[in-house]
Amino acid sequence: MAESFFAGKAGKDRLVLESQQTEFMMLALDGPKVFGGRIPRDAHIQMFITDEIFNIRHKLLGDSLNEAGVPEHPRERWLSVDEEIRRAIVKESPDQCRGRYRSDPIIIVPKPDA
Ligand code: HEM
Repeated sequence: MAESFFAGKAGKDRLVLESQQTEFMMLALDGPKVFGGRIPRDAHIQMFITDEIFNIRHKLLGDSLNEAGVPEHPRERWLSVDEEIRRAIVKESPDQCRGRYRSDPIIIVPKPDA
């Protein structure tokens, strides 16, 4: 069981992850269709992402869009697309996770105070 969503491969490939997310959002916001990755449910199936964790990321995204001076309309649209992804990736129990391939670990991140 790994203890960080971004450790190992995903950590080293941060730039890849950034461009995958950018291309995904371009598609979701009716921009150029260059994204060729997996749908959100399949891309996050090995991670035990709770509502609490999703909320933290969603709040950071909103703060970042504000900090970058993104106007209200595109910002709210971006945040509403992001919110729609919640039901595809949030899980109530680690039982809902599975490896994407045989040796893929299920990732459960402990709470900081646990
Ligand atoms: C707390 C929530 C989230 C966490 C912890 C998370 C984490 C990750 C990680 C670690 C990967 C890389 C997996 C790998 O290649 O091994 C990934 C892939 C990806 N994530 Fe997320 N993610 C979250 C939410 C989201 C949301 C809300 C979106 C879309 C708006 C998103 C879009 C993507 C995309 C497009 C990929 C690449 C898909 C592919 O593999 O083809 N993620 N995410």
